[in-house]
Amino acid sequence: MAASFITFEGLDGSGKSTHLKRAAEWMRAGGLEVRCTHEPGGTPLGDAIRGLFLDPRWESVEPRVEALLVFASRRQHLHELVEPALRAGVNVLCDRFTDSSLAYQGIGRGLARPWLEELDRLATDGRRPDRTLLFDLPAETARGRGQSPKRRQREGGLDRFDALDLAFYRRVRDGFLDLARDDPERFLIIDSSGDVESTWAQVEVAMGQIVKVRAS
Ligand code: TYD
Repeated sequence: MAASFITFEGLDGSGKSTHLKRAAEWMRAGGLEVRCTHEPGGTPLGDAIRGLFLDPRWESVEPRVEALLVFASRRQHLHELVEPALRAGVNVLCDRFTDSSLAYQGIGRGLARPWLEELDRLATDGRRPDRTLLFDLPAETARGRGQSPKRRQREGGLDRFDALDLAFYRRVRDGFLDLARDDPERFLIIDSSGDVESTWAQVEVAMGQIVKVRAS
């Protein structure tokens, strides 16, 4: 079976990163080769762009600049990591991809969809993941988790997106749900408003629909 490119999307604090790691372990235990990665970043150049992208010093980054930065990182990521891994038969689990740009820079920041789609075409040739897990929960709940003192301590301070208001995150959530509604073949919606185990139970079912693992 060809390797799969699977993305994990959702608001900051939705639990997608925790479940991505667990899904990778689950796949490995089932005999599959997996590479975990993330955006913005995933390569040395991409991680340098990520540093710029999230740096709270540039309080008001012009929205198109924000999009150009993240798509520059994405192009390098596809070229250097994602496509070679898939060609080598390794499954790729990616924490965020173009859907984040459509939701955050498009719906959140208000950039026009055709402009973003053109940029996507130039940067990625319209590359889409095979399947996408959307971790959905109310923006209030995600904000509560995303800015917990534990997380702040772990990550050494707030980034540019942590400082945005609830209305922005509500728009982004709705943006993700619209994307999922428009592409039901690709998206699987995970209700991540509950505890870790109830979310994982859904992720395990979803992953079972996407990949074939060896029975343990
Ligand atoms: P992420 O790594 O998921 O956040 P964290 O590790 O802090 O949980 O993403 C960092 C931020 O970048 C997040 O707030 C969303 C934003 N982002 C965009 O605005 N557009 C994009 O295309 C991507 C990939 C991320």
